[in-house]
Amino acid sequence: MTSAVELTQEYVAQTYKRPPFVLTRGKGMKVWDETGKEYLDMISGIAVMALGHSDTQVAEIIQEQAEKLIHVSNLYYTAPQAQLAQLLCEKSFADRVFFCNSGAEANEACIKFARKYAFGNNDHQRREIVSFSNAFHGRTMGALAVTPKEQYQKPFQPLMGAAKTLPFNDIAAAEAGISSETCAVLVEPIQGEGGVYPASVEFIQSLRRLCDERGALLVFDEVQCGLGRTGTLWAYEQYGVTPDLMALAKPLAAGLPMGACLMTEKVHSAVAPGDHGSTFAAGALVSAVAKHVLERVSQPEFLAHVNEVGMYLWDRLHELNAPQIVEIRGRGLMVGMELNIPVGDIVNAGYEHGLLLVGAGTHTLRFVPPLIMEKPDVDTLIERLEQLFVKVTV
Ligand SMILES: Cc1ncc(COP(=O)(O)O)c(C=O)c1O
Repeated sequence: MTSAVELTQEYVAQTYKRPPFVLTRGKGMKVWDETGKEYLDMISGIAVMALGHSDTQVAEIIQEQAEKLIHVSNLYYTAPQAQLAQLLCEKSFADRVFFCNSGAEANEACIKFARKYAFGNNDHQRREIVSFSNAFHGRTMGALAVTPKEQYQKPFQPLMGAAKTLPFNDIAAAEAGISSETCAVLVEPIQGEGGVYPASVEFIQSLRRLCDERGALLVFDEVQCGLGRTGTLWAYEQYGVTPDLMALAKPLAAGLPMGACLMTEKVHSAVAPGDHGSTFAAGALVSAVAKHVLERVSQPEFLAHVNEVGMYLWDRLHELNAPQIVEIRGRGLMVGMELNIPVGDIVNAGYEHGLLLVGAGTHTLRFVPPLIMEKPDVDTLIERLEQLFVKVTV
């Protein structure tokens, strides 16, 4: 039989580079390849598998709901979608939810609803969407326009118009750059793909103030940093302000595709039937799973666990005595380790040492493990990293 590696290389569009092994199963913090080799998963499907692999309760809900109803489209009401929307609103700043299927789509929805809000107010010059240097909001044409990385954008121009980039964490530049033409300001409270850079409290609070003063909407992209990842249910809780809109996705449905755009009633006042839609979004199956995820990750004990293990990870990473380490950044179980060597070298060497690792930017190793990680898993990681850093030299 032809191997999955060969088949993928022959038939799947080659937009990804992958290591030459085939993953076949996972449990908790670990995954195994087809030779039986075990890996400690420090990526969790890029910050998706918050409850770990093959969670028993998730599997039960999938089975139960699949036997009842999987999908009927948004032409009809279903209880799992309705209950999930209620729970998302009760547990956040939001009054309403628009569902979609990914992080990029969630940001597209935020941009569309922000533009509709300005349009509905007859504020027709207000079209501009501000985002920040180093941001990552997705790869569809609107989200890409606010993801200011030349390598991602250049081959696909022209992108959505009226997108403006300001320097991240620079309050003076925000003062100068947000204007009466700004429709929305889109920001990750903690930048993920760009290299795990937390926004400062002063910066986020200034954005809130500037948006209020100048009539723009504030949008948080919590696709990666939301849903418990940083030790609070929402990263914005650590900033003392709430947004007008927020994008969610990644861990929301435990590995099934789901995104959401949360909004206040003020923004929703401009929304009308037909403004936006999606065939698949928040079908009964994904919604039933997402409701379970939200119930679990919002429990105070769950969040306390993320904080405790996150602090332990932080301390143990700081104990590593490796000349390649430049700086460690992050919150909770979203941690970046900047290196003075290309991160790809460490990621590749990690496979031999039983580690699934991922980079963020060219020189930052990013740790976004399942949120159920325990302290002994951290010890295993540290042991393997010690060996790695000895092997991969500067
Ligand atoms: C902050 C942020 N926004 C948006 C996205 C895009 O999400 P998706 O890949 O589901 O479209 C990502 C993905 O990494 C992300 O980290």
